[in-house]
Amino acid sequence: MGGPSAEREVSLSSGRECVTALRGEGFEVIEVDAGPDLVTRLQDIKPDVVFNALHGRWGEDGCVQGLLEWLGLPYTHSGVLSSALAMDKQRSKDVFRAAGLPVVDSGLFDKVAVMAAHVMPPPYVVKPNNEGSSVGVYLVNEAANTPPQLSDDMPEQVMVETFAPGRELTTTVVGDGETDPGALTVTDILTDGWYDYDAKYQPGGSTHVVPADLPQEIFDLCLDYARRAHQALGCRGVSRTDFRWDESRGAAGLILLETNTQPGMTPTSLTPEQAAHCGTTFGQLCAWMVEDASC
Ligand code: DAL
Ligand code: MG
Repeated sequence: MGGPSAEREVSLSSGRECVTALRGEGFEVIEVDAGPDLVTRLQDIKPDVVFNALHGRWGEDGCVQGLLEWLGLPYTHSGVLSSALAMDKQRSKDVFRAAGLPVVDSGLFDKVAVMAAHVMPPPYVVKPNNEGSSVGVYLVNEAANTPPQLSDDMPEQVMVETFAPGRELTTTVVGDGETDPGALTVTDILTDGWYDYDAKYQPGGSTHVVPADLPQEIFDLCLDYARRAHQALGCRGVSRTDFRWDESRGAAGLILLETNTQPGMTPTSLTPEQAAHCGTTFGQLCAWMVEDASC
């Protein structure tokens, strides 16, 4: 848990929840904040399984997965390639398109160019290509006359994406990409404004309707798209796929935003809530992930 990414605090929260749940299931758990001494810590501890509760760069992008492969330690969630692909928002869209899944147009641009002039007609969204939890997301609305001024900590290259309007929906998938993973349910996320970092992690920052009150066709499409995205990326364990649905366009208005290979496990996160709705306690979910771990 922890680690140096922009989602460090989210990961510490996820990690604490998983530790409590796993201890409740009878596992012996040693907490490790993933720092530069990670390899020596793991060599000292010699764990049977590494439960990966990291989010963001280095923990969700194939880096730590490669390190664990190298050490021969079984770990939870997706492997090297799936993690790397899913975390690269632009490349994962190529995989989704090839699988026939609907995504919005986007491109990678130099930060300087994005700040100099609109690189596409507003409304559009600017985000780092490989972060999570809405860190560094800029919405450039229709009325914006000037291009966005991005903060210094934004990367030199950013992704610019056509804004997909509509309701914020999400679906968790459990199982291996190669066999037949199961999609849990659909959550409709209601917020006063943007589903940003605060709305994600402040208690009461958003309201989650589980199961989402949707036409059956849209509900089933979310389950189908999330399962196919998980399979197309070759995910393992648990993933969560996020959508926007523009009701005015019917089934054509359902857009796949991204797949998260390390979905949040915090007290306000969506995956534990979806599992509970399906009759799986958080402890049972974490225990299954440990049993499913491999390298
Ligand atoms: N990136 C956060 C942890 C999520 O997808 O839930
Ligand atoms: Mg994400």
